[in-house]
Amino acid sequence: MKSLLSISDIKDDVRYILDLAIKIKAGDVEDKPLEGKTLAMIFQKSSTRTRVSFDVGMYQLGGRGIFLSSNDLQMGRGEPISDTAKVLSRFVDGIMIRAIKHEDVVELAKYSDVPVINGLTDFEHPCQALADVLTIKEHLGDWKGRKICFVGDGNNVSNSLLLIAPLLEMNMSVACPKGYEPHEDILKTAHEYAAEHNTEIIVTDDIGVALENVDVVFTDVWVSMGDEAEKAQREIDFAPFQVNSDLMSLANDGAIFMHCLPAVRGQEVTSEVIDGPQSVIYDEAENRMHAQKAVLYYYLKD
Ligand code: CP
Ligand code: NVA
Repeated sequence: MKSLLSISDIKDDVRYILDLAIKIKAGDVEDKPLEGKTLAMIFQKSSTRTRVSFDVGMYQLGGRGIFLSSNDLQMGRGEPISDTAKVLSRFVDGIMIRAIKHEDVVELAKYSDVPVINGLTDFEHPCQALADVLTIKEHLGDWKGRKICFVGDGNNVSNSLLLIAPLLEMNMSVACPKGYEPHEDILKTAHEYAAEHNTEIIVTDDIGVALENVDVVFTDVWVSMGDEAEKAQREIDFAPFQVNSDLMSLANDGAIFMHCLPAVRGQEVTSEVIDGPQSVIYDEAENRMHAQKAVLYYYLKD
């Protein structure tokens, strides 16, 4: 059974899915391709964009989403993930899950008879990365040869971007404080993809080096869901990595600013940048739905 747990799972089909997203956004697919299909949507963490975009996306494709808070599920009281997967598979056509631990999503997919879609874990956020690259194409044209830079925490969002950038022939730099680098397994795979596609991946704590020749500047919160205990230390460690006008001036003229949202203005990004002319954050948020409709079509359509 095919699932989308990581960008690596769609390594060979990423362009196909993105082409599909462009077609779906343009209204260039059949009416109600997922008529009669249902998607269980399990949330162990808060969400605005993921919840609403998957729910509305299913509806617009002719199917329906079923919101399941882990607080209300028997899983939240200790029912095994394996039983949850097997039982839900008897009712629904797909499962989207936002989970605290990535291993739990791997386990869910192992026992599920229907596709499982990762709606964010502590390790990856593949649907966000798909929406992000769709937004880059709309604003900057072709991906090939572009350079994107992620400034801040080597977290779930930067992990998925590191995997998708080389697959689309983009170069990528990560500017992060020492000790907050992306996971070594992600970097190993990203370097493999970069070698295959003749692109470059750089991870550095030198902001000047990371921002050289950059077309897209990304950042994300300093304190992700689950990292709250480290808040005070993180605010100290990430302070020099704030995306402000001075930092943006190091990127190319015409560079765009992106953020998966929610954002904390005054921390990882200033209002001047996130609410300024280079910011494309609302197009990026809207594209969550278009990219995910392509994912749903790809995984759930008969
Ligand atoms: N970017 C994102 O995943 O947003 P939500 O947490 O609101 O779903
Ligand atoms: N890195 C953030 C992304 C939220 C959409 C988090 O995991 O909380």
